[in-house]
Amino acid sequence: MKKIIANFKMNKTNSQVKEYIMKLLPRFDRDDVELVLCPPATSLSIANFLLDGSLIKLGAQNLSDEEEGKNTGDISGEMLKDCGASYVIVGHSERRTKFRENGKAINKKIKIALKNRLKVIFCIGESLTDKNLQKTQEVLKAQIEDGLKGLYENELDNIIIAYEPVWAIGSGKTPLLKEIESSMKLIRKTVANDFSNKAGEKIEIVYGGSVDNKNCNSISKLKDVNGLLIGGACLDPINFSQLLRDVKA
Ligand code: PGA
Repeated sequence: MKKIIANFKMNKTNSQVKEYIMKLLPRFDRDDVELVLCPPATSLSIANFLLDGSLIKLGAQNLSDEEEGKNTGDISGEMLKDCGASYVIVGHSERRTKFRENGKAINKKIKIALKNRLKVIFCIGESLTDKNLQKTQEVLKAQIEDGLKGLYENELDNIIIAYEPVWAIGSGKTPLLKEIESSMKLIRKTVANDFSNKAGEKIEIVYGGSVDNKNCNSISKLKDVNGLLIGGACLDPINFSQLLRDVKA
């Protein structure tokens, strides 16, 4: 079963989310694709209400690295769960760069998410500078090790690693298929070294970064790719439902 995760980023008000879901719901009827919609936190409750009884799951885009208390403006894992989220994105590159989230904070967030029974979409990816300096392997390895530090192997069942090269996000550029394949293999190998061979084989990995209606099939067909994380191409419900119809599971 392929996972398709739709990251709305900071787009859509409550009424726009409502309109989006009303258009998407009648157009989505696949039971071989697990679709996770990640609207802004302000729309989780309305989305949860509208998606009730459907196959579509709900995810949040971020959570606090503290459980509760003095964190003005933050939203806790418990609050997200309470609004109906069953997934949460952690460590997106926009948060790593703009909000200076480091490996330690990301590790704390992952642990808090798991404690609140939220499945984690854990984002990793190299920057263009890392790529040009041929540091991709080193960077991905360090991000995985920092993010998953101290977790028990069975907790990996609730983690999906999203491989998103920073330079591919929103740029219209994607890595070559063989580059995606080699990063996926490296991710599996790192998880195997840190946990076990079985964990390396089992861990779910999705690809994200400029996925669109044209490239979604060639990328999702890759052996080690368990799904896709989609930003820009998910924002129009009609266009996105076409992608969801076309993508091979
Ligand atoms: P994009 O974004 O599909 O617009 O490149 C993906 C993401 O940031 O998760």
